[in-house]
Amino acid sequence: MSDAPTTPTAAPTAIETAAQLRQQLQQWEHAYYVLDAPLVPDAEFDRVFRQLQALEAAHPELRTPDSPTQRVGGQALEGFTPVRHRIPMLSIRTETDISAEGARAFDARVRKELGLGPEDPPIEYQAELKFDGLAINLRYENGLLVQAATRGDGETGEDVTHNVRTIGQIPMRLATDAPPAVVEVRGEVYMRRDDFEALNNRQRQKMAEGDKGAKTFVNPRNAAAGAIRQLDPAIARQRPLSFYAYGWGEITGWADQPATQAATLDAFAAWGLPVSAERRTVQGAEALIAFHQDIGARRDALPFDIDGVVYKVNRLLLQRDLGFVSREPRWAVAHKYPAQEELTTVQEIDVQVGRTGKLTPVAKLAPVFVGGVTVTNATLHNELEAQRKDVRVGDTVIVRRAGDVIPEVVASLPEKRTGDAPVFTMPATCPVCDSAVVREEGEADHRCTGGLFCPAQRKQAVLHFASRRAMDVEGLGEKIVDQLIARNRIRTLADLYRLSVDDWAALERMGQRSAHNLVAALAQSKTTTLARFLFALGIRHVGERTAKDVAAHFGNLAALMGQTPEQAASEEQLLTIHDVGPVVARSIHTFFQQPHNREVIAELQALGVHWSESEGKAAASANAEAGSAAALPLAGKTIVLTGTLTAMGRDAARDQLEALGAKVSGSVSKKTTCVIAGAEAGSKLAKAEELGVPVLDEAALLHLLQAPDALPALLPALPDGQ
Ligand code: IVH
Repeated sequence: MSDAPTTPTAAPTAIETAAQLRQQLQQWEHAYYVLDAPLVPDAEFDRVFRQLQALEAAHPELRTPDSPTQRVGGQALEGFTPVRHRIPMLSIRTETDISAEGARAFDARVRKELGLGPEDPPIEYQAELKFDGLAINLRYENGLLVQAATRGDGETGEDVTHNVRTIGQIPMRLATDAPPAVVEVRGEVYMRRDDFEALNNRQRQKMAEGDKGAKTFVNPRNAAAGAIRQLDPAIARQRPLSFYAYGWGEITGWADQPATQAATLDAFAAWGLPVSAERRTVQGAEALIAFHQDIGARRDALPFDIDGVVYKVNRLLLQRDLGFVSREPRWAVAHKYPAQEELTTVQEIDVQVGRTGKLTPVAKLAPVFVGGVTVTNATLHNELEAQRKDVRVGDTVIVRRAGDVIPEVVASLPEKRTGDAPVFTMPATCPVCDSAVVREEGEADHRCTGGLFCPAQRKQAVLHFASRRAMDVEGLGEKIVDQLIARNRIRTLADLYRLSVDDWAALERMGQRSAHNLVAALAQSKTTTLARFLFALGIRHVGERTAKDVAAHFGNLAALMGQTPEQAASEEQLLTIHDVGPVVARSIHTFFQQPHNREVIAELQALGVHWSESEGKAAASANAEAGSAAALPLAGKTIVLTGTLTAMGRDAARDQLEALGAKVSGSVSKKTTCVIAGAEAGSKLAKAEELGVPVLDEAALLHLLQAPDALPALLPALPDGQ
């Protein structure tokens, strides 16, 4: 026997490999879907997934029901099989009082039922979110998902196992070596808001491509409910669903089931089931109120819809003692928030004209209280959108307002239509000035062609010109501009600067004093920056950011508009600016080709509107190449503004510094040239001191703006090497 015996490391059998691949994929799925923390790139997942698929294809006997490959595929069903719940799926009582009283009333009832007096300690509760989706029962036998059923009427639901298998968040096998013989996990299937938006965008795309069967969904809840009740799992799979466990039905053979609601959910989470982290174990009613308020304040920041919170007595023994009344547990209650969707009717559809002539249909609604405010108007965006939602005068519609988002008509309910109002169409002429209405090729918007002849456009142009981020004329509000337009006092923007104190004082609700103030504010607005001025002109597609980029690029107006239209910057030149694309370049170019625009600019300058000019980046880099010094005095300097500046606002200071070439940053680092600290500066000042970044006060800032070349002299001497 010369050969040493070889250690028995036989190659893994196909069974072992399959088990190993399954386990690997299950772990990755959990990390990806439940923990939101992928462990490997999608491509790696796909590779291992295909490996398992191939192995199972070669050895069909290796295919287990919990294999990740079994999530996909499956035949479409003829219909749903009824499932009788072994333990009924109950509903919970809703505390109708949306104020804090709801929580106190619940706590008082629980204490009374349990025979507790005022001296007894507070009850321990678990506070949870009330997810706005649909309830589902997941039956696991020996750790394996064997059936998923909807709630139905609470007694009998429908078997939707084929669709639930497509939900990546739901484990097909519980991640435990010792699963209970039976555990029915109950929870909510829902759709995240971003998934809902993406789904609707895909549906719109299909509709645009002529797919007659495609439709958009009204809200995430409906989309989730529709997906779960799909007979064809291939379609269900395209509807991204999520799941949170919040309770249970039948449980047998769980030797050490925890004694509380909270700990039971913790155990579910440990088995790989999604359980929301937004839950809290608290003592007494006041803590429930705090939870209700905390979640209420963050409701719109959650990635999914909730319609309230749920309070549950935490100890399961107490839950048992409390029992049920008329099919609702006495130990749980839902505490709602104001609804974010309500029904109302459309009284009229108005067409409004914006600054650039865009026509917007606006639904005038019967006042409805939704999302905490009374809503009477909702934009329908454009003709296409109004027609897609098929909103007509007299219709009953669903109105949604969530958070600070502008209220919108989500859908019309044509089945409730009683009248015979026609489909909405845009008028052929402007409702304000009667000019022709056009719709450009490939655009959804209709436009009034009246330009500044149209009083509506003139009004919006003036309001924009005077707005805070443009010329910043304080006190020039809508009511005043309405009067100027109605009295035909303003033909062009330049006319604003031509009105005397008496002219202003002649307007309604304008005293001498306010008239004086307005004239002073207008005079003050004449000192501005090129970026603000360009933004104020209201050139289509030129927002604040673009105006800044264009101003920094050209440095001065002459370089941008030339002495004659022929000398104005070409589209090609404009396209060299970072973030300026063909649409913006064309719009700017066209603007400066119009003699009346050039005239108004000349008039504004003649009336005293001015700013400090420079050579601009374009010329500066050309010069730099030619070996001359950089043009802008603060080029290459990074400045941080902090605290309250009294002589000028922080916005204005930033604008002026940027116009001089400085980069104005929001955070302090070693690279910061200096920090300018106004009154009550806080953490940024501390950071500067910590890093040894020079700090200047407001007086130094004013000096710097007058004489930017003096910066080195203003900075304290820095140690060598800095
Ligand atoms: S507990 C016996 N907890 O609200 C108690 N329900 O009527 C059973 N819901 O449609 C319900 N979030 O799907 C409970 N954290 C939560 C919930 C929740 C949403 C739904 C549930 C049902 C309704 C209760």
